[in-house]
Amino acid sequence: MIKFLDLQKINSGYQEQFQEKLKLVLDNGWFILGEEVKSFEIQFAHFCGSKHCIGVGNGFDALVLIFKGYIQLGKLQKGDEVIVPANTYIASILAILQADLVPVLVEPKLETYNINPDLIEDKITSKTKAILTVHLYGQLAEMNKINAIANQYNLVVLEDAAQAHGARESVQSSVFSDQLQSIKTRNSQLATRNSVAAFSFYPGKNLGALGDAGAITTNDDDLAKVISSFRNYGSEKKYHNEFIGINSRLDELQAAFLNVKLPNLDSENELRRTIAKRYLSEIKNDKIVLPNWDLSSNHVFHLFIIRTDNREALQNYLLENGIETMIHYPIPPHKQKAFAHWNSLSFPITEKIHNEVLSLPISPVMTMDEVDFVIEMINNY
Ligand SMILES: Cc1ncc(COP(=O)(O)O)c(C=O)c1O
Repeated sequence: MIKFLDLQKINSGYQEQFQEKLKLVLDNGWFILGEEVKSFEIQFAHFCGSKHCIGVGNGFDALVLIFKGYIQLGKLQKGDEVIVPANTYIASILAILQADLVPVLVEPKLETYNINPDLIEDKITSKTKAILTVHLYGQLAEMNKINAIANQYNLVVLEDAAQAHGARESVQSSVFSDQLQSIKTRNSQLATRNSVAAFSFYPGKNLGALGDAGAITTNDDDLAKVISSFRNYGSEKKYHNEFIGINSRLDELQAAFLNVKLPNLDSENELRRTIAKRYLSEIKNDKIVLPNWDLSSNHVFHLFIIRTDNREALQNYLLENGIETMIHYPIPPHKQKAFAHWNSLSFPITEKIHNEVLSLPISPVMTMDEVDFVIEMINNY
C-alpha cells in the first residue's frame, strides 16, 4: 500500500536526534519557554526572513493571537470585517470568529485554488479592516495584488501560511537567508506595512512536530511584543499581567523536535517539488485536471491536488490498486453544519473544487518507484 502520508517513515529518520533532544530537555529540567523554544524562534525567524518569530500552541491560535494583538494595538476592533477565501480549511474562518471579527468569504480562482484578488474589492465595505490570505495547498496567494488592494483601502494583511512553510516570494512565508537582502529591498513597502504570517506545525505539515505546535512571524515590533505576552497569560514578567491573555505557548519538547527538522525543510520541499514535476509531466489522462504551477519556489506542494468529475470512482480505483488518497476538503466551510446561516449561500467555484478535488500521495519519503506506480495507475484509469 502506498500511504497518503507516511508519518512514521518521515519521523523515523530523525529518531536518534529526537532522542538526544529528549535527553537534553530532561537533563535541563526546564519544560516551558526554555532554550529550545528560544532557539527555534530565532532559527525560524531567520528562515522566514522575518524580524520576529513567536512560538505558540498551534496554527489556529497563531491566527487568533494575531487578530487579538491587532485589536489590542487598536488596528482592529471587535465586529470589523475580515476578507477570507471561501476555499480554505475551516480553521482560517474559525480564527476570525474566535477573535470576535466577521469573516467575509471571497471565491478562489479555479486555476490556483487561492483567493481571486479581482473579487476582493467588491466585498469591501466601511467595516472591512483586514484581509486574511491563505496559501492553500502550499502555493502562495497573489500577494502583490492583494497588498496593493490592502494599501489602497488601508487594510491589515495576514497570511495563513499553515500549509506553505518555505514557499518563497512572500515577505513572511520564507526566504533563504542569502536572498534576504534583495527580497527585503523588493518588499520594502511590505516590510513597512508590517505584514504577519501564521504557521502550523501539525504533524502532517511540511514542517511537522510530534504533536500540536505553531508560530507567528512578523516584522512589527509592537505586534510581536503584544503577542509574545498574550500567548503567556498576557504576562511578560512572571505574575505581572499586562493583558487578558491566554495560554498558548510552543511546547519546549516540540520546539526541540522542530529544531532537529528545520534544517532539512528546504531540501524536503525540493523533494516534494521533484515529485510534483513528475506528476505534472507524466500524468496524461483526459479525465484528470492537474494543478497549475510555474515551476518557481512559490509552491511547496503540501498537497498535490488533482480534479476529476467522478472523484469517488477514481479514489476507489486507486485504493483497489494500493494507493491511498485523501480529499482536501470534502465540504466547503459555508456548507458546514456549524455555519447553518451560510448554508444557502452560493460559491460555485468553491463548491466545484470541493466536489472534484483529490489529493495524491506526495512527501519527502516517497520513493521514485512509488511515484512511477501512481503515475502508471492514473494513466491506466
Ligand atoms: C490553512 C490552515 N489554517 C490553519 C490551520 C490550523 O492549524 P492547527 O491545526 O495547527 O491549529 C491549518 C491546519 O490544519 C490549515 O491547514
